[in-house]
Amino acid sequence: MASDRPIRLGVFGARRGAAFIAQAAACGFQVVAVCDQDGGAGRSAAAGCGASAYADFDQLLRHPGLEAVVLANYFHQHAPFAVRALQAGLHVISECLACATVGEGVALIEAVEASGRTYAFAENYPYMLANQEMRRLYQAGCIGTFVYGEGEYIHPMGAEEFVRHAPRADHWRTWLPATYYCTHALAPLMFITGTWPESVHGFVLPAAADDPCWHQVPHTGDPASCILVRMAGGAVVKLLQWNLRGHGNWVRVHGSRGLMEKLRHGDPGMVRLVREQLGEEPDGPTEQTYLPRWPEAGEQAARAGHGGGDFFTLWHFAQAIRGGTQPFFDVHRGVAMSLVGIQAHRSALAGAAPVAVPDLRRREERDRHRHDHWSPDPARRQPGQPWPSVLGEITPTPAQLANAGRMLAAGR
Ligand SMILES: NC(=O)c1ccc[n+]([C@@H]2O[C@H](COP(=O)([O-])OP(=O)(O)OC[C@H]3O[C@@H](n4cnc5c(N)ncnc54)[C@H](O)[C@@H]3O)[C@@H](O)[C@H]2O)c1
Repeated sequence: MASDRPIRLGVFGARRGAAFIAQAAACGFQVVAVCDQDGGAGRSAAAGCGASAYADFDQLLRHPGLEAVVLANYFHQHAPFAVRALQAGLHVISECLACATVGEGVALIEAVEASGRTYAFAENYPYMLANQEMRRLYQAGCIGTFVYGEGEYIHPMGAEEFVRHAPRADHWRTWLPATYYCTHALAPLMFITGTWPESVHGFVLPAAADDPCWHQVPHTGDPASCILVRMAGGAVVKLLQWNLRGHGNWVRVHGSRGLMEKLRHGDPGMVRLVREQLGEEPDGPTEQTYLPRWPEAGEQAARAGHGGGDFFTLWHFAQAIRGGTQPFFDVHRGVAMSLVGIQAHRSALAGAAPVAVPDLRRREERDRHRHDHWSPDPARRQPGQPWPSVLGEITPTPAQLANAGRMLAAGR
């Protein structure tokens, strides 16, 4: 696609979808259609950008001249909709997760390959300023070979805020296994170092009895998890995610010749670089803490949500479509990161035993895993398959359901 005219974009899911609508024009898109089964939300988002509103995905796919679609629907339902959009000849940018089972990952990769269209995994955290600078430093050899990394995505919610985001007792946020929301912690490390996950040990952190919010409203999963990931090349990564106290995200990378990290406090764009320069000619300061410059498009990025990340995901998607290529966060990286969460839940249920992350770039691995639909999703789990919580089946109490109903009504 050589022309510079805006690419005609459809948005599926009007809640998170609003962030894509906000960035669309700056990234070279025109939002022509919005689809949400919640007609009010869909119509109001569509009216705000002069687009058509639909309640049904098939209607969205049939919108005249549509070229690309954002999947911002439920967390665990992206892959089947991505496959349908690709088969309809559309480019796809998908929110996390890319796939909810290993078998869905195989089907998604093969659908992208068969379509010849661009698929982008919408991981926005790697494009925050500090993470882009650490990628530059790593590629310039400033810290040597990647040895160990840490990534954190911590997002606590009070009970009232939680029920606004999970308005029904079966909403994905009430039951999601605590290892599944891992891509915000892992993606920056893959982006900075270029490495891939090979195997995981999963640890789930159950809710404390004295948590003043968690037990007030329906939860049938667990609040948080820690995952140790062995990366190709031997480095180890520690990921910490989800509903813990201490809101924020953080990245730390140790190399053979230095350390770099995003600051934990103060300006979140700042980077700390430490190089003791042991056994080598000193060629600069031992320690620097500084605010880097945006590598590109800084003005637009600075205005976007998630520290600029919401701009860059769409921007790279547009560039890949125009160039007939795939972005850095392509279907393979999107699926690999999603499999880390799935396999870490398997590991947590087995006492943190190591579980391999299948490399679905390899065709023989696809054949081994294409029928793997192991899933703790309460709506699709088969007899003998696990529950979302490592504690087993949890049923919301009448008091939790009543509290949630009261909070929702009060918030309206
Ligand atoms: N990258 C980020 O920073 C970030 C931030 C927020 C959310 N997200 C991701 O974005 C996705 C959406 O998040 P959310 O908070 O908006 O979720 P949500 O569950 O609150 O909203 C999903 C929306 O999709 C609509 N929808 C779902 N299935 C549909 C269907 N079959 N037909 C029509 N409409 C349908 C729902 O009505 C709802 O309005 C999730 O995957 C979430 O993880 C990412």
